Amino acid sequence: MKKILLSTLFLIAMLAPACARQFVNITPLPKQMEVGEGVYRFPKSFTVGAALLPDSLKVEAQRFVDVIAETTGCKGKLSKSKKADISMTVDKSIAYEGYKLSVTEKTISISASSARGFFYAFQTLKKMMPANVMAELNMKQAQEKLPWLKLTKRPEVPCVEIADEPRFWYRGFMLDCGRHFFTVDEIKHILDGMAIYKYNYFHWHLTEDQGWRFEVKKYPRLTTVGSVASDCRMTDMEKGHYWLGKPYGPYFYTHEDCREIVEYARNLHIEVIPEIDMPGHIMSALAAYPEFSCNPEGEHKVQTYQGGVWSDVLNVGDPKAVQFARDVLTEVMDVFPGQYVHIGGDECPTSAWESNAQCQEHLQNLIKEGKVKDLEKHRFRPLQSYFIKQMNDHIKARGKKMILWNESVTAGGADLDIIKSTGAMIFCWNPCQGGAAVAASLGLDAVITEWGPGCYYINRKQHDGEGEPVAAGTGRKSDQLPAVYAYQPVPEKVMQDTEKSRHYVGVQATFWTEHVSDINYFNYLAYPRLLAVAEAAWSPEEKKDFEDFRTRFTADTVLFDLTGRLYGKHFIAK
Ligand code: ACM
Repeated sequence: MKKILLSTLFLIAMLAPACARQFVNITPLPKQMEVGEGVYRFPKSFTVGAALLPDSLKVEAQRFVDVIAETTGCKGKLSKSKKADISMTVDKSIAYEGYKLSVTEKTISISASSARGFFYAFQTLKKMMPANVMAELNMKQAQEKLPWLKLTKRPEVPCVEIADEPRFWYRGFMLDCGRHFFTVDEIKHILDGMAIYKYNYFHWHLTEDQGWRFEVKKYPRLTTVGSVASDCRMTDMEKGHYWLGKPYGPYFYTHEDCREIVEYARNLHIEVIPEIDMPGHIMSALAAYPEFSCNPEGEHKVQTYQGGVWSDVLNVGDPKAVQFARDVLTEVMDVFPGQYVHIGGDECPTSAWESNAQCQEHLQNLIKEGKVKDLEKHRFRPLQSYFIKQMNDHIKARGKKMILWNESVTAGGADLDIIKSTGAMIFCWNPCQGGAAVAASLGLDAVITEWGPGCYYINRKQHDGEGEPVAAGTGRKSDQLPAVYAYQPVPEKVMQDTEKSRHYVGVQATFWTEHVSDINYFNYLAYPRLLAVAEAAWSPEEKKDFEDFRTRFTADTVLFDLTGRLYGKHFIAK
């Protein structure tokens, strides 16, 4: 009996530290983390050992100090001392986006090799503190919003040892501003959310059949005409769809707006990737400049129906229309300093080309010159591949890289030799894994943004329960949070093949706005699925655990509440 008692006590003693392990709220989960006992309590005044570091690193430290001053009772300053409360060490052996973070009861030490690494270390540190810090609200403001929230002037951070770096270098989020427009402030709010969860690319879908949102000085009608729809289907979260009953627009971003967004994103270590969708999904441009369509005499209008694929596409057989596309990209590249330009290439019917004399002649010439293949089926698709090559030549001449949707390699008749020669990065949605497999076989990099089951299209209905607001899809299980979380962006078989898997460079959460006309509904659908994709983007596959994730995103609902973000409550831990 005594023996049993002793062994039971021993077992309890063994388990006790594990049971008592303090909760650490970091999403996405770090690559390696040891949770210790005890906490670091921020001193009323503290130092950060950054004063001797390069300016780019000092900036990160100063931003942290400013946020802590604003949100707590603790005042920090940058110091030259090696014995600072928070030490910062440059360690070139750490991966570009990685960092090490050690929190003991006495000190905090951070090492990284880049400003970005330090930025992520500070994001992690803030994430472990009371939510008002990440929300950038002072204690009074936070308690006005959530009176039950307990805050102290000297916030605590759990003792941890973290060695972190992301799984993928591309961790993107796409927003469709073509179907519905979002203001500069709303986009900043979205970028703030992305930065909390360590996303690093904002893919900005700027043009659609339903609206042209990028100012092009050479073609002013793109915005005076192309950014106005005669009516627009809106969505009220409670009442459902309704028609505005008046023109929607003019809504567009000036060059200054775009530069403001780029700068705001840059401070959050997010690069903006502009997308101008061509040669399909371009009715808004053709409404403004019908001469670039295949039927200049016909009727062209900004599309008012929010979904669909339309046959009114750019006349790629007309050198003037091709030059128009180049001119637009020139202004895009003038305004957006990043490395990537996305030119769409999705869902482009060829029917308008088939009945257009210029396109017929263009195809014949290209075949004669051996520039495209003479196909029996999907005969006109190579015109799109050739157009993509023309745009790529232009983009490459500016030292930038082109991005395409997967139809560029999966549409029947696509000229794979041409696409391979562009070196484009392929964003894979449908068929997502099929598209990625083709891209990898061509030696092209693929980004996974699954549209099918385990869906990264996080605008889709997130649940099939009664009263759920209208959205794309039915809220089927495979679009719900657990399925999104469980989705493996790189299938097991591919993971075992290093030659293939090295082309799977990232993942992206994608948000189309057919049914979403305001920021509250945006947030409701995006959160918490945005966090599930972030964890796939950053954390090792083998660390993923839905129940653990559920506990963390449930804790983050405090942050969502403080920052005015609606969210889906379907899977919150009880
Ligand atoms: C897409 O969803 N049309 C890329």
